[in-house]
Amino acid sequence: MNLTLKIWRQNGSQDKGKMVDYQVSDISENMSFLEMMDVLNEQIINEGGEPVAFDHDCREGICGMCSMHINGEPHGPDKGITTCQLHMRSFKDGDTITIEPFRAKAFPVIKDLMVDRSSFERIQQAGGYISVNTSGNTQDANSIPIDKHAADMAMDSATCIGCGACVASCKNASAMLFVGAKVSQYALLPQGQVEAVDRVKNMVAQMDLEGFGNCTNTGACEVECPKGISLENIARLNSEFFKANVKG
Ligand code: SF4
Ligand code: FES
Repeated sequence: MNLTLKIWRQNGSQDKGKMVDYQVSDISENMSFLEMMDVLNEQIINEGGEPVAFDHDCREGICGMCSMHINGEPHGPDKGITTCQLHMRSFKDGDTITIEPFRAKAFPVIKDLMVDRSSFERIQQAGGYISVNTSGNTQDANSIPIDKHAADMAMDSATCIGCGACVASCKNASAMLFVGAKVSQYALLPQGQVEAVDRVKNMVAQMDLEGFGNCTNTGACEVECPKGISLENIARLNSEFFKANVKG
């Protein structure tokens, strides 16, 4: 395949940035999207240019690093996958592909396609954990009976990989789906009850502090989420937040 790539180039957070056109040829349909980007970068390096900076780590849909907005969609045109799982067979010879970073005030661009998602880390640090006494008398987690349905739902919420596609797809740049998933995975389990009130209050406060927008129930986040995190998680976040404020 021969392709035209229109890629966002931005040399640091203070740079204005612009779209730059590149041509790549002999791209196999069996290549992953990131392998195609590797081919492009090799070409740029051979021509003495600066390679395109982009994030990646596991390249198998687990780490959530590969944040690219491809042809106007976070993680590209296919559903239920991350950018690293996207293959070139989803495009055709002669296509023009637009590649931009995830855009949100709370995700400032570091360089080119790389954005700073440490705002997600700070939300997690605000409450995305349980405190366990590790003095040696810790109760074996498997000895706590958990309803199978609740365990399954908690597991579904826990599959959120923190990629940020929900934020990038939202017209308000809301992080409610991410925070909803993180709150839900504990709210559904007995282990999460002890710190439930502080958790939801602190995580929502940090979310607001980071500059994420509000949810207006558009649902784009659910459509673009590579892990199928459902809007039910936002409903649970709202109900946990309400309960926490009633309890004081
Ligand atoms: S909710 Fe989905 S889109 Fe949002 S961070 Fe988690 S995995 Fe990514
Ligand atoms: S590189 Fe890890 S999810 Fe894509």
